[in-house]
Amino acid sequence: MTLGPTIDGGRLLARLDAFAAIGGTPAGGVNRPALSVEDRAARALLARLGAARGFSVFQDAAANLFLRRSGADNDRPPFMIGSHLDSQPTGGRYDGALGTLAALEVLETLEDNGIVTASAVELVAWTNEEGSRFSPGAFGSQVHATGVFPDGWQDTVDGNGIRLADELAATLAALPEAIERPLGLPAAGYIELHIEQGPLLERQGALIGVVEGIQGTRWLEVVIEGQVAHAGTTPLADRRDAMAVAAAIIARLQATVMPSDSDARLTVGRLTLVPGAVNVIPGEVTFSIDLRHPNGGEIDRLEAEIGALAAETAASGGCRVSLRRSMDVAPAHFDDRLTGIIQSVAEKRGFPTRRMFSGAFHDALFMARLGPAAMIFVPCRNGLSHNEAEYVEPHQAIAGTQVLCDATLEAMQLGKHR
Ligand code: GLV
Ligand code: MN
Ligand code: MN
Repeated sequence: MTLGPTIDGGRLLARLDAFAAIGGTPAGGVNRPALSVEDRAARALLARLGAARGFSVFQDAAANLFLRRSGADNDRPPFMIGSHLDSQPTGGRYDGALGTLAALEVLETLEDNGIVTASAVELVAWTNEEGSRFSPGAFGSQVHATGVFPDGWQDTVDGNGIRLADELAATLAALPEAIERPLGLPAAGYIELHIEQGPLLERQGALIGVVEGIQGTRWLEVVIEGQVAHAGTTPLADRRDAMAVAAAIIARLQATVMPSDSDARLTVGRLTLVPGAVNVIPGEVTFSIDLRHPNGGEIDRLEAEIGALAAETAASGGCRVSLRRSMDVAPAHFDDRLTGIIQSVAEKRGFPTRRMFSGAFHDALFMARLGPAAMIFVPCRNGLSHNEAEYVEPHQAIAGTQVLCDATLEAMQLGKHR
């Protein structure tokens, strides 16, 4: 295997700065919610940069955005590379943006070097990967993979009551220069570069994570119904305090689920109280549970355990409880040939590698259902992500992008086309 073309690291870093300014926060992070004005500005900049290099710009009904660099035979499915441009509300500048801008850098490197690939190479920026404004996450890649929008999406609203459907329409309309295309056009393969979002690569001194798969994620919405009453006059025996029950459920879950299984992850990240007044006993509390495990069967078992524990706790506090799934994504296993290519091109460049499973979900999870898919991780400082302090050393971002470029060319040569 010969070394492929060298990417332009300076250009990549300048692009990372330019996109970090769109929705940039005073603390150096990014607030670019899915389908927001800032998200539209980032999409428009990406489309402009691509068009300036002669790449075709497309979007589908889920507002997934594609930049296509033609190859020798454009009737064959393209090889896809990319990630997402939306962020968490107090997100970092690399989560999603790195993989998207690395994909742009690959396309530009091919263009700079006049390389004719056998088929087209496409950058994709998936819509609403984060899911923090509109649930579920990985929305765009899910719609791409399944060909349908998730159940109930028409009624989905954000925390301010703004409808997903309206924001999607406005986002599509904001990019009239993009050519509309059908959902789910096939790809020959998919590789996504991303920051690890955890501490393993940094701790081990590895530069490139060769990702073998992604653990499963299930999101639950738990609603506790009690009775609104006066905070000062209602004796303990007469209280049906939805907040007291929610606190007890959460405390019991935290004390059992993760301490008894080091592979399990449980997070309560959002909680709302009704009516939410200082001197009123809450009549209703809603909270989220983000539950993850590399083994799908364990997620089922844990969900059943959570349901039983919640019902028992609610009954003893005089409340009712209901649980609803708002997202459910089974674990994914990536393509062995693609992970082998990533490993070998990284070694060829002299980059220390580590094989690993992803704790975070990614759009590659849905692409793995359609065909060969894989991911490349690079370290982030102190393993910190979904945080404004998220940081990737310039040489790490450049190395990951170089591996993405090399692996894409290698995968295309090895006849990955279906
Ligand atoms: C993706 O952002 C995740 O929460 O894993
Ligand atoms: Mn991400
Ligand atoms: Mn994220």
